[in-house]
Amino acid sequence: MHIMIIGAAGMIGRKLTKECIEARAQLDGKNLSLTLVDIVEPSKPEGVDPGITIQTIKADFSDQKTATILANLTADIIYHLAAVVSGEAESNFDKGYAANVSASWQFLEAIRKTNTTPKFIFSSSLAVYGPPFSETITDNQCLRPSSSYGTQKTIVEYLISDYTRKGFIQGLTLRLPTIVVRPGVPNAAASSFLSSIIREPLAGEKAILPVEVNERAWISSPGIAVKNLVHAAILKPAKLKGISTINLPGITVSIEQMMEAVISTGGNSLSKLIIKEKNEMIENIVCSWPYKFDTTVAKNLKFIKDSDINSIVDQYIKEHS
Ligand SMILES: NC(=O)c1ccc[n+]([C@@H]2O[C@H](COP(=O)([O-])OP(=O)(O)OC[C@H]3O[C@@H](n4cnc5c(N)ncnc54)[C@H](O)[C@@H]3O)[C@@H](O)[C@H]2O)c1
Repeated sequence: MHIMIIGAAGMIGRKLTKECIEARAQLDGKNLSLTLVDIVEPSKPEGVDPGITIQTIKADFSDQKTATILANLTADIIYHLAAVVSGEAESNFDKGYAANVSASWQFLEAIRKTNTTPKFIFSSSLAVYGPPFSETITDNQCLRPSSSYGTQKTIVEYLISDYTRKGFIQGLTLRLPTIVVRPGVPNAAASSFLSSIIREPLAGEKAILPVEVNERAWISSPGIAVKNLVHAAILKPAKLKGISTINLPGITVSIEQMMEAVISTGGNSLSKLIIKEKNEMIENIVCSWPYKFDTTVAKNLKFIKDSDINSIVDQYIKEHS
């Protein structure tokens, strides 16, 4: 089985690469081959069984020639994770549409011309929803994005549904909750602070909190998110019964609960490292996202979720200290 990950050098891409290797038996016991693509050189995980072939490609998938070359590698499963994330897509309109919409459409076109019908798994976001929405988002909630990023994800979701309906790909869009705790440094996502307020205090550093403490968020740990991405690759198309978009399970957590989880791990003094500094741009984007979901479809398809915020923090500490 040949798996291609576009956006492989990113936070989710790197974890997904490892998860695919770990889940090798479920994916394809013998002939697993991975093609890791990113505009930044993707790194090969170390100590991998020599029976697994890994090639890395440093390339911009929004370039037409590159898109054709990648499509012609005819992977069985393509994960499309590459994106200009929410904060940057909002501040740089042209860049967001070029990378998130035009490039994705061009890539889908290149795949269509190969006549290979790969599984195409796309990482979308709860940013496809915006107010007004019902208190609990169900699988049937209409899409009403209130950011450029959310609009761009919505457009690609629809393209994937139509290309799937036409039999050009076997598309599956997974709407990921916000991923917390993101390791490393903050990125350009408007929701980046949700990780910073945990990660930075635990490292003895200050973090800016740009929204009120009673705000809530729909989150998932990186570990559970990549398990769900692999589960999507394993799912038999018949089980999907025509579904091409799924809201992944997550947990609802308030900022206050996140701060409590940090304090319960590292002590009261850590609360002083979280500095309240209102930011309207971030507040307008992140607080327009829903935080409560009924993910019946995902649960029936055996997608999984974290148990609580404390276990997410514990998992982060275990992996990164
Ligand atoms: N992290 C989250 O909280 C979250 C939540 C919902 C959805 N998502 C989606 O999941 C995906 C992965 O998220 P992430 O947190 O790993 O983001 P990330 O920014 O860490 O990774 C994205 C990767 O895409 C690459 N990329 C961007 N443009 C490219 C191009 N033109 N050609 C090749 N590579 C390109 C980047 O270099 C980066 O390595 C994104 O599509 C994001 O929108 C993430």
